[in-house]
Amino acid sequence: MIDYADIIFGLAWGDEGKGKISNAISKNYDMVCRWNGGPNAGHTVYLGDKKYKTHIIPCGVFQNKLSVIGPNCVVNVDKFFDEINYLKYEGFDTSLIKVSEKAHIITQEHINYDLKVLKEKLGTTGQGIAPAYADKMLRVGKLAKDFIDKQYLWDGELKGKILCEGAQSFWLDINYGDYPYVTSSETLPYSACSLGFSPKKIRSIIGVAKIYDSKSGVDPLFPNSLLEDSALVKLIELGQEYGTTTKRKRLVNWLDLNRLISAVRKSGVTNLIINKCDTLEALNLFKIKVEYKNQPQLIEFDCLNSMKKYIFDHLSPYCEVIFSGNKSII
Ligand code: IMP
Repeated sequence: MIDYADIIFGLAWGDEGKGKISNAISKNYDMVCRWNGGPNAGHTVYLGDKKYKTHIIPCGVFQNKLSVIGPNCVVNVDKFFDEINYLKYEGFDTSLIKVSEKAHIITQEHINYDLKVLKEKLGTTGQGIAPAYADKMLRVGKLAKDFIDKQYLWDGELKGKILCEGAQSFWLDINYGDYPYVTSSETLPYSACSLGFSPKKIRSIIGVAKIYDSKSGVDPLFPNSLLEDSALVKLIELGQEYGTTTKRKRLVNWLDLNRLISAVRKSGVTNLIINKCDTLEALNLFKIKVEYKNQPQLIEFDCLNSMKKYIFDHLSPYCEVIFSGNKSII
């Protein structure tokens, strides 16, 4: 029996700092569960000064919580056990990590196809994600129950207070994102219920965004008309905008406020966290992109506080708005 489920997910193109927030709040829950994606994700978590990175295992393990990889995820068995060994070596209790029997397995053939056919064309992470989901839909996929040792298989039971941890983000969603420059899973809160609970159990939906936009991989639809701007090149370094999984330099742009408002409204966000305000402050340039009469326009502010106020005024009718720094905890 579950008490309630809170959902945390990204409102942009990934890399908003979901891992940091999830790690900060997961001590308040009984279980932390991933509902989508696979090793294409990269979560960075700091405990004190020490940095940890995971790709498939939810952040709950850092706070001694039952950490579940749900049935809508895809798992690379070797990478899963590499991560288990890494966490074991670092002193975490890996008996808390469980995988749904119905999660699908990423095979070497999936990875080969992704690397050969999709990586260059769509800028995928090359982890075999799309081919694994394609086989799932064709109903020829391989299930975790046949590949993962029994001790790591989840009994499918949800108990107590649940934190659902999204991977990738709004504009990468297979249904809502900028298709085909998306991932192959559902990244929005609606899909967290695939873990096995009713939508009535959802208590809050925490959306994480950044105060500027970034996108990993190729995407002609990413609002990049301003990429010539040398300040944005500087922002890549200040914000260390390099992929956690791929190490690729990300595309960076000023915050697209209309997209953020749309993502907040469509996904029913109750609490919005806007990260990396300190990174923008270090750049000392404060701009937002808005649509005006169907034309993109840049608004410039004289300081971070006036930019925050503008964002707050536009978003607070829909949800609680919280501003955060890169490493600070909310
Ligand atoms: P795939 O998920 O590997 O098929 O990649 C599809 C698109 O999603 C590419 O543009 C990737 O860069 C992007 N992507 C996938 N996972 C992440 C992530 O965790 N953070 C940021 N971008 C991601």
